[in-house]
Amino acid sequence: MLSKRLKTIAEMIDNNKVVFDVGSDHALLPCFLIQHGITQKAYAGEIAKGPLNNAKDNIERFRLKYKVIPVLSDGLMNAPDDVETVVISGMGYYTIEHILDNCDINKYDSFIVQSNTDVDKLRTYLSDHNLTIIDEQIVYDGFFYQVIKFNSDFHDPYSETEIEYGPVLLKRRDNIFLEYLNDLKDRYQKIYEKSHKESLYKKIVEIDKIMYNK
Ligand SMILES: C[S@@+](CC[C@H](N)C(=O)[O-])C[C@H]1O[C@@H](n2cnc3c(N)ncnc32)[C@H](O)[C@@H]1O
Repeated sequence: MLSKRLKTIAEMIDNNKVVFDVGSDHALLPCFLIQHGITQKAYAGEIAKGPLNNAKDNIERFRLKYKVIPVLSDGLMNAPDDVETVVISGMGYYTIEHILDNCDINKYDSFIVQSNTDVDKLRTYLSDHNLTIIDEQIVYDGFFYQVIKFNSDFHDPYSETEIEYGPVLLKRRDNIFLEYLNDLKDRYQKIYEKSHKESLYKKIVEIDKIMYNK
């Protein structure tokens, strides 16, 4: 069974694209994509042999040999030429930055990226490289995870507010985004009550403005 987080990622992948899942320790996402007819071919990429063996075991267990192909690779360094969509999820920002720095982003149709840390730094990276954020989703799976889909079309740098909260999320303002903002505001408020830091007060006011469309 796929987690809510990985299901959200799967739903953001365009149909019939060859997918490369970077850091695919159990190959669960690529297997799900084939089983649900989202794609006909996917790669499970892993930097470490142990997790790659777990991926291979699952590929065999699901009888998906030749449809899900395991690849030993640091990021996209050994990715085959037919890859169209890249998924990078469940890692910290600096690992993601290393993977993006060491690939040719223009070669791929789209990236779906979920960082466990520093989502604002990830958006800053995309902004600094003039990349386009085409979709963003928030999923609550014991924690609020943000998933960002982007491509290499040129985009002017994003504003500070867009980098902090997400350009697509700010426009769509769906319920889960408002729940996320409420949770963030609560956390800032708790720290503010102890520290009385002016910068935190500003954040709380900023979140209120977004939540109540002021
Ligand atoms: C916590 S798991 C996340 C697995 C899965 N992607 C997910 O979202 O649940 C992170 C995996 O990424 C792998 N990894 C870390 N750095 C990597 C890199 N530079 N290239 C490929 N895999 C990497 C690790 O070996 C580990 O198996």
